[in-house]
Amino acid sequence: MTPPIDLLDEIDSTNAEARRRAEAGETVARWIVARRQSAGRGRRGRAWNSDTGNLFATLLTLTHKAPAEAAQVTFVAALAVADLLDAFAVPGSVSIKWPNDVMLAGEKAAGILIESGTHASGALWLAVGIGVNLAHAPEGTERPATCLASHLRSDIAYPPSIDAAARVLAEAFALWQARWESLGFQPILDAWIARTSGLDGPCVARLGHETVEGTADGVAPDGALRLRTADGQLRLISAGDVFFGVAA
Ligand code: BTN
Repeated sequence: MTPPIDLLDEIDSTNAEARRRAEAGETVARWIVARRQSAGRGRRGRAWNSDTGNLFATLLTLTHKAPAEAAQVTFVAALAVADLLDAFAVPGSVSIKWPNDVMLAGEKAAGILIESGTHASGALWLAVGIGVNLAHAPEGTERPATCLASHLRSDIAYPPSIDAAARVLAEAFALWQARWESLGFQPILDAWIARTSGLDGPCVARLGHETVEGTADGVAPDGALRLRTADGQLRLISAGDVFFGVAA
């Protein structure tokens, strides 16, 4: 079943709101969607540009999975975002970049930020935060960004409204989540690999304290990036900024 969607005009951050609700004891899964965020947050402490016109959505949900397994939800989210963009974008233009950026014609169009904590019930709460550039792309980002409005299919004049996009996203997410729950992670990872580019070429991973250069060598069974360095060492990268096909 698709969780209900709360559509708000403005909030600081839908992830922050999900955290507040989880900490207040919320037990029912729901989507929190805002037309505008005043303090949207991205990965690695960055701000997420949150002007009206783009989609800012967080699914708050509880799970009894262990944290390492629950983290696989990021792959579920990337597939759902790819389905949302696929419904409106030029055929063949949507791809995923490890671990969870969703791209249009090779430029970032959406990002995912997962936050979690322990619920009063002892279960783990997950805030699956998703930002999709529907109408406009931020300027001045480290790597070029784009938006759906610049890549619409020829028979579509405008990107979807926020509520229409949120519904498509929520339904796609529910389908992938149901597959994950019933069949496990492997089919999710297979579908994700089929949509992901750059997993076999030059790559640079910027981690907290070091930069690792080498060649991407696919992903491990848990989705970690396999990066082979020039001296033949295999590094498993689970988090960080990774650039494919380019120098850092
Ligand atoms: C990234 O840095 O790529 C992740 C960006 C995630 C942004 C979304 S917008 C909805 C949700 N609320 C937030 O404050 N952040 C996430």
